[in-house]
Amino acid sequence: MRIYVPSDTTAVALGADAVAAAVQAEAQRRGLELVRNGSRGMFAVEPLVEVEVQGLRTAYGPVSAGDVSGLLDALESGADQHALFLGPVADIPWLASQQRLTFARAGEGDPLCLDTYRTLGGFAGLETALQMAPVAVVAAVTDSGLRGRGGAAFPAGIKWQTVLDTPASQKYIVCNADEGDSGTFADRLLLEADPYQLLEGMAIAGVAVGATLGYIYLRSEYPLALRVLQDAISRATAAGYLGDDIRGSGRNFHVEVRLGAGAYICGEETALLESLEGRRGVVRAKPPLPAIEGLFGLPTVVNNVLTLAAVTTVLAQGAPYYRDFGSGRSRGTLTLQLAGNVRQGGLVEIPFGATLREVVDEYAGGTFSGRPMRAIQVGGPLGAYLPEGQWDIPLDYEAFAAAGAMLGHGGVVVFDDTVDMSAQARFAMAFCVEESCGKCTPCRIGAIRGVEVIDKIIAREAPQENTALLQDLCDTMEQGSLCAMGGLTPNPVRSALEYFPEDFV
Ligand SMILES: Cc1cc2nc3c(=O)[nH]c(=O)nc-3n(C[C@H](O)[C@H](O)[C@H](O)COP(=O)(O)O)c2cc1C
Ligand code: SF4
Repeated sequence: MRIYVPSDTTAVALGADAVAAAVQAEAQRRGLELVRNGSRGMFAVEPLVEVEVQGLRTAYGPVSAGDVSGLLDALESGADQHALFLGPVADIPWLASQQRLTFARAGEGDPLCLDTYRTLGGFAGLETALQMAPVAVVAAVTDSGLRGRGGAAFPAGIKWQTVLDTPASQKYIVCNADEGDSGTFADRLLLEADPYQLLEGMAIAGVAVGATLGYIYLRSEYPLALRVLQDAISRATAAGYLGDDIRGSGRNFHVEVRLGAGAYICGEETALLESLEGRRGVVRAKPPLPAIEGLFGLPTVVNNVLTLAAVTTVLAQGAPYYRDFGSGRSRGTLTLQLAGNVRQGGLVEIPFGATLREVVDEYAGGTFSGRPMRAIQVGGPLGAYLPEGQWDIPLDYEAFAAAGAMLGHGGVVVFDDTVDMSAQARFAMAFCVEESCGKCTPCRIGAIRGVEVIDKIIAREAPQENTALLQDLCDTMEQGSLCAMGGLTPNPVRSALEYFPEDFV
């Protein structure tokens, strides 16, 4: 009998280490093997303990250390009697209804075990890419329709083609693992549950564009992910999947990790490059594009963790397989992260095209408070607040943009009917004050004026004039800001004003 206890940050925060210690204490006497796996992203039932007997895995959760002895006793006398029994893992509706491509392996086994990774199809994409001409690898990514999962949804293949086409003595792959959006954790979950997938994706990118060095820019708030990544890099290098002469192909690709220091703006790709170069994270003007003059002035692919991870599926299964999922110009799967006031937070990977309402109804299990839902913010702190009337928009990039919203990195933060939307609008401006890099005036000064004018509206000081002034300020920030930090801050502010005007009265 094998017992799986997740080792990822969320499960550990909820007591998984103590659960694992309790299992380990009984392992020898009961003839058990303990495996620390990654999380499947069902946070409402973490620590989720899985019991494998003759290849069949059954789930129990949420399990505390005090439950372990009783659970193990129950297993010896017919498992489904136990109060924490959730059923066979493969049949749990929350998981069975998802379409997991990128997160298919998450939770299956020890994230650092190379044999597990290979057994579950790992490195097939890299092996395929090593047999192909670089231009064909880029063409496959373009054909797949894969768009960047970090927020801007830019086609990955076009970016890679630009780097491939730019001659240089050195090129770089930079993985953006800064994951600063509110309510998001998908990058971290992937790094902690399936780190080789990211390394494989980065190596494929290196082979495709002719880059021999990659950096992972990781937020410092993810210490566990850092340890997993560093271990994964050494093991993958020792096994010949990274380093010089990858798998005897004559191609080289090395990966190093660099830590951020808690600045939201360092997730913006040019500020990130500044930070990687050892300077303060201030946004660079574009052009030049990072694909042409990026890290140290050389051609650089900057992609999000999930974008690079998805490339492994594209190469292993073929572009048409990946492209077959999705809707409109949004191809493949979308990774949503349910957070905020929900009963069942966690990670949901489904093809683009479902509606927000369907996702929330099916997976969130209502609000944690038990009160009615009132607003949902999708796409991080710069995303719009959507009222119930907007929950039937299909989850695809174009449909969301048409509604003045954005999918961003897939963060879904739910608020109940006690939320004060004027406070949320003020928060958006205050967040911008805090996180602005300070390079351009509409954002640096505009956000401060934004907080002041919202305070006046809330205090009923000439509300009509001040609301008009706020709209005017939003126009200025949208049109005059150098980057999307200042440019998108009006999104949450305007949506709060438009959809929840009663909160400003
Ligand atoms: C203020 C700001 C913060 C951002 N934060 C992140 C982030 O944390 N992670 C990320 O991948 N992209 C972030 N982005 C988007 C990046 O600038 C860039 O578009 C992305 O890394 C490109 O990778 P992709 O094409 O794979 O999405 C941010 C953008 C802005 C304007
Ligand atoms: S919009 Fe804000 S964060 Fe972006 S460059 Fe201007 S000051 Fe910096």
